[in-house]
Amino acid sequence: MERDSDSIHEIAVIGCGLMGHGIAQTFAQKEYSVTMYDTHHSILEKAISQIQSNLDTFIEAGVETEESIKKVLSNIRISLDLRSAVKYAHFVIEAAPEDLMLKMNLFAEMDRYAHEDAILASNTSTLPISKIGKKVIRKERLIITHWFNPPHIIPVVEVVRGEATSQEVFEISYRLLEKIGKRPIKILKEIPGFLINRVQTAMFREILSLLELGVATPEDIDLGIKGSFGLRLAVIGPLQTMDMGGLDLMYKGMKYLYPFIDRSIEVQKILGKKIERNELGLKTGEGFFQYEQKEALAQYRHSKERDKKLLYLLKTFSE
Ligand SMILES: NC(=O)c1ccc[n+]([C@@H]2O[C@H](COP(=O)([O-])OP(=O)(O)OC[C@H]3O[C@@H](n4cnc5c(N)ncnc54)[C@H](O)[C@@H]3O)[C@@H](O)[C@H]2O)c1
Repeated sequence: MERDSDSIHEIAVIGCGLMGHGIAQTFAQKEYSVTMYDTHHSILEKAISQIQSNLDTFIEAGVETEESIKKVLSNIRISLDLRSAVKYAHFVIEAAPEDLMLKMNLFAEMDRYAHEDAILASNTSTLPISKIGKKVIRKERLIITHWFNPPHIIPVVEVVRGEATSQEVFEISYRLLEKIGKRPIKILKEIPGFLINRVQTAMFREILSLLELGVATPEDIDLGIKGSFGLRLAVIGPLQTMDMGGLDLMYKGMKYLYPFIDRSIEVQKILGKKIERNELGLKTGEGFFQYEQKEALAQYRHSKERDKKLLYLLKTFSE
């Protein structure tokens, strides 16, 4: 294969859980031939049925038709053999658990099995590709493409280059994501949390601190954020917001507020206490909010409703 985003047709997705199945679906919807690899047949079956369910939601939202989804599903193959899954792939995306040793071993194997021109990407949220690829020989073909949940809907993907990533691999990965309708952003330095998760975590820290201080209820915190800058952010970005507010005014506001904003480097105790009580959120039926007891039903219903609302918002964002 000559290296160029137009010469990429075969995709392999390694690890098809929450993220992997949605990544596979996205490529299949854009007529790429996708091989999904995982460790057990039952996991791959579940991934396929999750894709079918996602596609049903797309039909309900008017994004896909009955005919088109048959075609999408025919673009997907499953495999329990890593070698054959990556052998003919032009672009491989790993979405296995966030475990450095596991990813290091997977990448060493994939480096051996994949064609020498194939690009090997990781969907890691936190691990540097230079560490994941420590045992890889052709390190210039390594990259992070960090998708956001739900990956089949959220348009932004962070493209993160490692120390050894070639400029060519960086550009091709970026263009490939553009070609499948994503809105990739380039992360020019390999820093912990990349860009989006750093910003999100900064917000989580302040919100947990406000909860601990008893400033507002969980209901009002979520409503407050969703119904104010949350709603606005899909249309006007944070730096645009500053420009619109006037940088001199923003400066004054920040100068006054910065000393009061939480700066702790320990995670707030409120979260640890919830974990001790097994209040882990949706999966245990209780987190900051209560959910229906039946975990599977709750997960299914919440993700369907979430996806429908996101698809609706996505139309506005895309315009
Ligand atoms: N969950 C998120 O919101 C999110 C967002 C962005 C990035 N990520 C990252 O994506 C990756 C996957 O996360 P997830 O939430 O989809 O996890 P997950 O646990 O839902 O899925 C991981 C999948 O990998 C499979 N797996 C286990 N061992 C494997 C192996 N040796 N080889 C191949 N597959 C194997 C599992 O069977 C499972 O299907 C992680 O690196 C995570 O940090 C997650």
